[in-house]
Amino acid sequence: MKARGNFASKLGIILATAGSAVGLGNVWRFPFMAGHNGGAAFIVLYFGCILLLGIPGMVSEFIIGRHSQSNAARAYYEISGGQRRWRLVGYLGILTSTIILGFYAVVAGWCLQYLFASLMGHLSGDADYVLHYFQSFSSHPWKPVLWAVAFILITHLVIVRGVQNGIERASKLLMPLLLVLLVLIVIASCSLPGAMAGVEFLLKPDFSKVSGGVLLEALGQAFFSLSLGTACLCTYASYFSRDTNLLKSAGQIAFLDTFIAILSGLMIFPAAFSVGVEPDAGPSLIFITLPNVFQQAFGHLPLLGYVIGILFYALLVFAALTSTISMHEISTAFFAEELNLQRKKAAWIETLVCILLAIGCSLSVGAVDSLTLFGQSLMDFCDMLTAQIMLPLGAFLTSLFIGWVVDQRLVHDELTNQGTVAEGLFRAYQFSVRYIVPLCILLIFLHQFGVL
Ligand code: PHE
Repeated sequence: MKARGNFASKLGIILATAGSAVGLGNVWRFPFMAGHNGGAAFIVLYFGCILLLGIPGMVSEFIIGRHSQSNAARAYYEISGGQRRWRLVGYLGILTSTIILGFYAVVAGWCLQYLFASLMGHLSGDADYVLHYFQSFSSHPWKPVLWAVAFILITHLVIVRGVQNGIERASKLLMPLLLVLLVLIVIASCSLPGAMAGVEFLLKPDFSKVSGGVLLEALGQAFFSLSLGTACLCTYASYFSRDTNLLKSAGQIAFLDTFIAILSGLMIFPAAFSVGVEPDAGPSLIFITLPNVFQQAFGHLPLLGYVIGILFYALLVFAALTSTISMHEISTAFFAEELNLQRKKAAWIETLVCILLAIGCSLSVGAVDSLTLFGQSLMDFCDMLTAQIMLPLGAFLTSLFIGWVVDQRLVHDELTNQGTVAEGLFRAYQFSVRYIVPLCILLIFLHQFGVL
C-alpha cells in the first residue's frame, strides 16, 4: 500500500480536522442560510442538530477511520468484518465530497478574486457600486471560471506535496488570526448606523417561520459545516493517534465551528441591515455586504479598512483551502490505495473531475444561465443535492452501521480509548447512534418528502 499524506504532530491532525470543518460553510453558507430561513429560529434548530446529531456523527466517523487506518471505502469494509456492501457508504462519501469540491471551488474562487480586488483597491465605492461589482464579476464569461480552476490547482499542489509542515504550521498561526480578525470585524459591523436590527434578527427567534424544509436546511447546514457525512472525518481520523480522545476532539471541533459561524452571522447581518441589503440575498450576501463594512466602518481610517479587507479575504481563502484539501484528500487516498496509483496520479483524477464540475457550476450562475437541473442552476442543484440529501444519507447509514453492524466491543474500545474514558459516555453514545441519530434524520426526510 502506498504511503498517504502524513501529519507531523497530534496537534497538527486535530488542527487539520478543525481546518476542514471551518471554512466557507461558516463564513459564507451559514449566514445566507440563516438569512434565508428567518434568522434566530434557524440558529436554534442548527444548535440542536449540532448537539444531538452532529457530535455523535463525528465520533462515528472518527471511530471507523481510526480503527481501520485506511481510505474511506476500505475503512467501512474492514471494520464491518469484511462485508462488501458497506464499501458503498465509503463510495457515497467520495462522490459527495467530489461534488461539494466542484461548487465550493467556485465560491473559493470568488474569494480569491476579492482578495486580488481588495489588494488593487477595486472594491471601494458606494453600496450600489459594490453590488454592481459583484454582479458583473460573477456573470463574466470566463473570469470566475479561471479563479475557480486556479483554486482547485492550488489545492492539488498542496495535496501532492503532502499535507505536512506547511499546512500544519500555517494552520497554527492563521486559524487564531482568523478568529481575532472576525471579532474585530464584528465590532466594526455592529457600530454601523442601524446595525442593531441585524443583531436582533440573529437573536430573536420567530418560530412561525419554522417548517420541515427549514429543519432539513438546518440539518444540512450542520452536517456541511462539520464536514460530516462525506467520509472526510473518517479519512482524517485514519491519521489520528491511539490516545486521541475522540469524544473530546469532536466536542471541541464542533464548538469552534459553531462559534465561528455565529461570529460570521454577527459580522454580516448588522452590516446587511445597515446598508439595506436583504438578509435573504442568497450566496452573494457576504460579497455585497462586507466591502461596505470595510469602507464605512473604517471611513475615518481608510488605510486600516484597506488592510483589514485584504487580511480578511486572505484568511477566508486560507480557511477555504484547508477545507478543499480535506475534500480532495478523501478521493486521492482512495484512488492511490485502491487503484494502486502513485499519489500524484491519483490526485490528478480528482482534480480533473472537479475542474469540469466547477466550470459547469461557475457558468451556471453567470454566463450560461440555461445550465439548470430540476429548475435550479447547476451550482444550486449540487449544493442542495449534497447538503440536503447526500450528507444526511451518509450520516444516517454510518450511524446504523456503527450502532448495529460493527462489533460493539470494538466501538467500546475505540470510544473509551481502552477504558480511559468514562463508561457512561459510551452508553449514551451507543443509544444515540442506534436510535436518536437515525430516527431524527429519517423523520426529517419523511417530513420533507411529504410522507409525514
Ligand atoms: N466543512 C467545510 C466548511 O464549512 C466544508 C466541507 C464539507 C469540507 C464537506 C469537507 C467535507 O466550509
